[in-house]
Amino acid sequence: MMDVLYFGLVCVLSISSSMASFSSASLLVGFYRTSCPSAETIVRNTVNKAVSRDAGIAAGIIRMHFHDCFVRGCDASVLLDSTPGNPSEKEHKANNPSLQGFEVIDQAKAEIEAKCPQTVSCADILAFAARDSAFKVGDINYAVPAGRRDGIVSLKDEPSQNLPPPFFNAKQLEDNFARKGLSLDEMVTLSGAHSVGDSHCSSFSYRLYYFNATHPQDPSMDPIFARNLKKKCPPPSNSVNDPIVQLDVLTPNRLDNKYYIDLKNHQGLLTSDQTLLSSPTTARMVKNNARHGAAWAKKFAAAMVKMGFIDVLTGSQGEIRKNCRFVNSKV
Ligand code: HEM
Ligand SMILES: *[C@@H]1O[C@H](CO)[C@@H](O)[C@H](O)[C@H]1NC(C)=O
Repeated sequence: MMDVLYFGLVCVLSISSSMASFSSASLLVGFYRTSCPSAETIVRNTVNKAVSRDAGIAAGIIRMHFHDCFVRGCDASVLLDSTPGNPSEKEHKANNPSLQGFEVIDQAKAEIEAKCPQTVSCADILAFAARDSAFKVGDINYAVPAGRRDGIVSLKDEPSQNLPPPFFNAKQLEDNFARKGLSLDEMVTLSGAHSVGDSHCSSFSYRLYYFNATHPQDPSMDPIFARNLKKKCPPPSNSVNDPIVQLDVLTPNRLDNKYYIDLKNHQGLLTSDQTLLSSPTTARMVKNNARHGAAWAKKFAAAMVKMGFIDVLTGSQGEIRKNCRFVNSKV
């Protein structure tokens, strides 16, 4: 009930704050209630099955929704395969080889297409699947406003200009999220997604071996944590392979607020994680989230919903793809 009230509020706020982007406010909870009543159930069952087999898939799908929404809006551009001469977002190093869970979206889409052809967008399926992943690994449930349409463009270079890299500091992260209409508190709240899943060593190993001219190791990292990571991650210069380690050392497969306790313990894996403890404003948020798990979970749900509104296509914009990997053919 609280949640329903909240979503109503989100819509009212978006309408009044910017008439120009009215279309972004026209997403609705229960959008497919009559056109494809089983859509959300199919997505939930598909996600549950996949995550039961491999918990890492939940993390992959939550991240995929973020990578979709920050690049060209939540338009499923991240799901498009490259075509000859047109490398897509998937090829960018922020996504390749680390982004995972595409087959789960494909499977949900195939089942939905069999029931309701060309009715449910890939962008909505991804938004539902991210919610269902958060529910499966974190008991965080929320209603997802839907009605997004799928874009027809995906460009390899665009993630660079839109997704924050792991070496950003708190100020850079704040600016990056602000450009997408998300507040500092929402940035800190959403970073809590790093309470599940993995990172390749290459995303942070400079913190262990060559931090800067005077410090080989990042002094904001607990030295014992660093020593353990060095056992798993070879020096970047002579690494042939790129192992993965868990983002949250305390509860690696649970979406919860333990991530913020990691940060207080100086056991944040990425610079972009640990930096949240070094600026006074974000440090206060980190400590609040560490102390109040239920409040953080509520904020996380609300911030995911808000992220899901970023630059969406609605109405007659874009299309409803038949296959999430390809734009519909124009013949
Ligand atoms: C604040 C800025 C952020 C930065 C700099 C960042 C960066 C990263 C990096 C570098 C990785 C590891 C990739 C790899 O090396 O394999 C990662 C993983 C992950 N990120 Fe973020 N991220 C940010 C925010 C977010 C947000 C907002 C979400 C979702 C709401 C998110 C969800 C995830 C998840 C779940 C994983 C684990 C994925 C898996 O195990 O497959 N991240 N992120
Ligand atoms: C290296 O990093 C430390 C800790 O952040 C900092 O105090 C120092 O000024 C940096 N040194 C250089 C040369 O950038």
